[in-house]
Amino acid sequence: MDNSSAEAVNSNASSASLFDGGAPSYITADGEEFPVKYMIGRRFQTFKNSYAMPIDDKEAQREYFLHLAFKEFLNEQLYLAPVGDSKRIVDVGCGFGYFAEEIAQRQPDAEVIGIDMTPRDHQFVPDNLSYLQADIEASSSDGSMQPAWNHASIQQADLIFVREMTWAMVDPVRVIENAKRTLKPGGWIEFQQGTGTKYVDPGPDYPPYTDVALRWESLLEKTMAAICPHSDPRLASKLKSMLQQAGFANVTEQVIMVPIGDWPKKRRLRNAGVCIRETFLGIRDAFEVMVQHTGAVSIQDFTTLHEQFRAQLFDREVHMYAPYSIVFGQKPVEEEEIVGEEVNEDAVLKSEEHVKCEETAENGEDRETAAQVSGNGRG
Ligand SMILES: C[S@@+](CC[C@H](N)C(=O)[O-])C[C@H]1O[C@@H](n2cnc3c(N)ncnc32)[C@H](O)[C@@H]1O
Repeated sequence: MDNSSAEAVNSNASSASLFDGGAPSYITADGEEFPVKYMIGRRFQTFKNSYAMPIDDKEAQREYFLHLAFKEFLNEQLYLAPVGDSKRIVDVGCGFGYFAEEIAQRQPDAEVIGIDMTPRDHQFVPDNLSYLQADIEASSSDGSMQPAWNHASIQQADLIFVREMTWAMVDPVRVIENAKRTLKPGGWIEFQQGTGTKYVDPGPDYPPYTDVALRWESLLEKTMAAICPHSDPRLASKLKSMLQQAGFANVTEQVIMVPIGDWPKKRRLRNAGVCIRETFLGIRDAFEVMVQHTGAVSIQDFTTLHEQFRAQLFDREVHMYAPYSIVFGQKPVEEEEIVGEEVNEDAVLKSEEHVKCEETAENGEDRETAAQVSGNGRG
């Protein structure tokens, strides 16, 4: 498949929504009704036409690998914002709840609330964790699901955590404004997000992205644009300025180049690489469904490109990286106080606890990682 076939995705998108035709199903142990439909053996939600990833056990597995990967490349920290003692932590778009559950266990004195529109059958729920089925983009007047942000249980939060939600958010500016209103003065918001390679120059210290990886990414981006036109592949790289514009203080961004695959020598990096590889492989089915729907690229071409990409992910000679962005900011204690205040990035990036897990491969070919992870967070 050449680049031109991927370019065609946008123009050939079917006018009927991929989300049409869902039927109410009982998918949780509590018997909650939620509209879903099955495509190529995977379960998708049809409640909202802005989220196209599956909501089944295989997706739970992918999200678990995602959770493990973030923990590995963040040196076991769950977040980097210097939050201090938290009384209330809100996980927005918590998915299957891996962050929510772990932070609740690590911080037993905190109250943790996981918000997601999709009902899930959570097997183990610590006493200090509760789940709220709510829509982070609904207002009280539109729709059948309760809007998330006015719910009493999440007000005055110390930390609002948002991980891997780029593809899900239709209006991130509004989400950020709502989050700011919900935070207590001095509270923090943190986004953690994989970011398209196109928007991060790997620089001379890293091997250039391979042509196959760039073509695969381009196909994903164009396919997602056809199905969920709101999704902004550049969102991760805009979050810092979005938080600043929304009036957050101490806004800090770290972009971490994470190795993909099992080629790194260091155990932690290899673990991260293997987990990230699983998350990359795990999105294939969702995109097959989307590609089938747009019809612009044949499934044969889609499969061929994916097989080429997959082969590179398992080739230890191909040292691939993916950029991940961590962005956090603080709601000012008093709005007036932040006027003219400098962003205190040094305090975060150069603290005594700073852990630099950077190394050069012994043969000098390329780096295993550039993860520079501050240790200020309490997560
Ligand atoms: C990729 S998953 C998030 C994974 C999770 N944050 C993690 O790091 O493991 C995206 C989640 O957002 C949820 N979601 C999408 N749109 C939403 C909305 N408008 N309101 C609430 N949840 C939403 C989906 O149900 C899905 O569980």
